[in-house]
Amino acid sequence: MKIETIGVVGAGTMGSGIAQTAIVAGLRVVLVDVSETTLATSVASLNARLERMVQKGRLDGPSCAAAVQRLVASTDYRSLAGADVVIEAATEHAAVKVAILREIESTVAPHAIIATNTSSISITSLAAALERPDRFVGIHFFNPVPVLPLVEVIPGLQSSSETVDSALQWARQIGKSPIVVSNSPGFVVNRLLIPMLNEAFFILAEGVATAEEIDAGMRLGAGHEIGPLALADLIGLDVCLSIMDVLQKDLGDPKFRASPLLRELVAAGRLGRKKGRGVFQYNG
Ligand SMILES: NC(=O)c1ccc[n+]([C@@H]2O[C@H](COP(=O)([O-])OP(=O)(O)OC[C@H]3O[C@@H](n4cnc5c(N)ncnc54)[C@H](O)[C@@H]3O)[C@@H](O)[C@H]2O)c1
Repeated sequence: MKIETIGVVGAGTMGSGIAQTAIVAGLRVVLVDVSETTLATSVASLNARLERMVQKGRLDGPSCAAAVQRLVASTDYRSLAGADVVIEAATEHAAVKVAILREIESTVAPHAIIATNTSSISITSLAAALERPDRFVGIHFFNPVPVLPLVEVIPGLQSSSETVDSALQWARQIGKSPIVVSNSPGFVVNRLLIPMLNEAFFILAEGVATAEEIDAGMRLGAGHEIGPLALADLIGLDVCLSIMDVLQKDLGDPKFRASPLLRELVAAGRLGRKKGRGVFQYNG
């Protein structure tokens, strides 16, 4: 399958990173969001990241200018009509995703692949909401998308082998290293990673150590590049909480209980870097 144009629905942390990676790799991207303001902010920060790549010598000026030209931002789903692959990277709620996926399906050509970047929702159950479930697959990127090479490709029960092959082809085309993972709550990485972050909130709430000490512990003692609480702020505390809730509900094991402190911070709107405050405070 020839993949030249990508649609990305949801211009938040992940959508913006996926769009950036794809335009730098030479693909055309249509980035869609419900909010004009979000789209404008997303494109501005994407351009700023490209500019930094140029300053650091990771991208030359003409390639940067050409990449920017390959991006179209829109609030109109109809602009996805020519896309070969459309990936949904919107808010982590099943009902929101189903509505978006149906909208995408009603717009794209029959040959197009529809994917979701969900962190935890069942690919099989999302596929069941579509007319062509065989063309649907999970393609799970990691944050920050332009930096982390891993992509988990998750076939649902209904995904055709051609769809899975196209997902693998697209991931490799944009420089990622895909692994194929069964449709299981949290897939591989989040099943391991998010409960570890959640435990850091329990440790913090119990007063075992300060946030800075917990993070230093895992950086200096476990060789992690970033501490668990700073990583939770980067991922988004709301995203971490919804993954814990899905793990507990779908795996039925109380060991996946979300930390009350994590829940409290989300209720307070302290969602992490994207809101300027999570466990830590961020300026600018
Ligand atoms: N943040 C991470 O580290 C991470 C990592 C891997 C996967 N994911 C997954 O990626 C998805 C997006 O996460 P995020 O962190 O980018 O979220 P985010 O909150 O930063 O962005 C979500 C975006 O979706 C948009 N949106 C909501 N409803 C929409 C609709 N109907 N149509 C179009 N756009 C709509 C919002 O306006 C927002 O811009 C989630 O499913 C999440 O689980 C997140």
